[in-house]
Amino acid sequence: MAPVVDAGPDVPADSATAIPTRRRARFHRLVVRQVRRLTEDSIEVTFEVPIELADDYGYDPGQYVAIRATVDGTELRRSYSICSAPVPGEIRVAIKRDLGGRFSSWAMENLAAGAELDVMSPEGNFTTDISADVARHYAAIAAGSGVTPVVALAHSVLEKSPHSQFTVVYSNRTALDTMFLEELADLKDKFPARLALHHVLTRETRSSPLLSGRIDHEKLQSILSLLVMPETVDEWFICGPFELVQLCRDTLAEAGVAAGDIRYELFTTGEPTRPEGSHGRPVAVAPGGAVHSITFTLDGRASTVTTPVHGRESVLNAALRVRPDVPFACAGGVCGTCRAKLVTGTVEMEENFALEPEELERGYVLTCQSMPTSDAVSVDYDV
Ligand SMILES: Cc1cc2nc3c(=O)[nH]c(=O)nc-3n(C[C@H](O)[C@H](O)[C@H](O)COP(=O)(O)OP(=O)(O)OC[C@H]3O[C@@H](n4cnc5c(N)ncnc54)[C@H](O)[C@@H]3O)c2cc1C
Ligand code: FES
Repeated sequence: MAPVVDAGPDVPADSATAIPTRRRARFHRLVVRQVRRLTEDSIEVTFEVPIELADDYGYDPGQYVAIRATVDGTELRRSYSICSAPVPGEIRVAIKRDLGGRFSSWAMENLAAGAELDVMSPEGNFTTDISADVARHYAAIAAGSGVTPVVALAHSVLEKSPHSQFTVVYSNRTALDTMFLEELADLKDKFPARLALHHVLTRETRSSPLLSGRIDHEKLQSILSLLVMPETVDEWFICGPFELVQLCRDTLAEAGVAAGDIRYELFTTGEPTRPEGSHGRPVAVAPGGAVHSITFTLDGRASTVTTPVHGRESVLNAALRVRPDVPFACAGGVCGTCRAKLVTGTVEMEENFALEPEELERGYVLTCQSMPTSDAVSVDYDV
């Protein structure tokens, strides 16, 4: 049974425990400055950020952007993690072809310098405060394109925090499939004592059996006892497909790592059920039928829409019918772009792979996953 969420406690914005208020995510049209091939199946795309948009595109390492494009007549939105430490005037992402995937296949075949795409301002919690005055050990476990935010984090930590260490466990099928192989080797050359880099290859035999084959529970236990000892790590970053993230969370928990010390980013839940386009799927309202009333505030303007009780429509889907500018990207409970605060009423949230426990406690919901369960519901996208 999906959890029912109540409007959370009303904590003043300046409270010490306040979650930082977010800059409102917006799309701007950005020009592609460069497309660089990383592997046969992946590219790095650099967008130019004009000076007047510098504030909108400031970001923390580990964050992602949503990209919007019309492919074969359908508007698609996909999220891509930023793959470089913050550099003024540009945003870089890395896109790996998902076999049969519409956006990634289109991008691999069509994107070139000079192209223009709608790119949303950066979002996401897969990040941390990086300070020059601390000596922390960060560890990341990533698979395939999941390394993208890890590359940005490792660069930033090693450059900005001279007493901190970073360990990367990175799984790929073969060396040829490995994104950022050279960049990571260069980083290792630059910071040999502070970066530990462990490549695990599933379809190639490496000299150590520990680094060959799929990462399963047993292999991860061995990695945790021989390569990266949990008691030495202050903060974990896990990024990749659903199964890897779940395996890491469970195995780290068994090893005594507190849930609050692990950050994770899911690239997909493996369920290709998301709606496409900016208008939500149509929902028929029978005359006189029971409805929920949904009020939402966006950019300081309140709008109200009704949704039939039998429709089990998400707050996002209903809101999109009256305001196509309501923010969303994955529509699958993964990215967090559609986050809003539940102000009144109750909703049932089907999936949540994006919100932290403290955000839930504060009453934040993913509107793409939230179905009203009270007659009236109001949410605020601006807080
Ligand atoms: C926060 C976040 C950050 C991300 N960062 C990155 C990143 O840095 N780099 C990166 O490469 N990706 C990243 N992703 C994943 C990315 O957003 C896309 O999901 C990915 O590129 C696939 O999109 P697509 O349009 O190519 O595939 P889709 O068309 O969405 O298809 C996805 C998969 O589902 C299958 N599929 C589609 N429809 C069906 C169907 N009806 N039945 C059965 N199977 C189906 C496809 O064959 C494909 O394998 C990130 C995702 C999130 C949420
Ligand atoms: S749009 Fe990605 S979690 Fe809702």
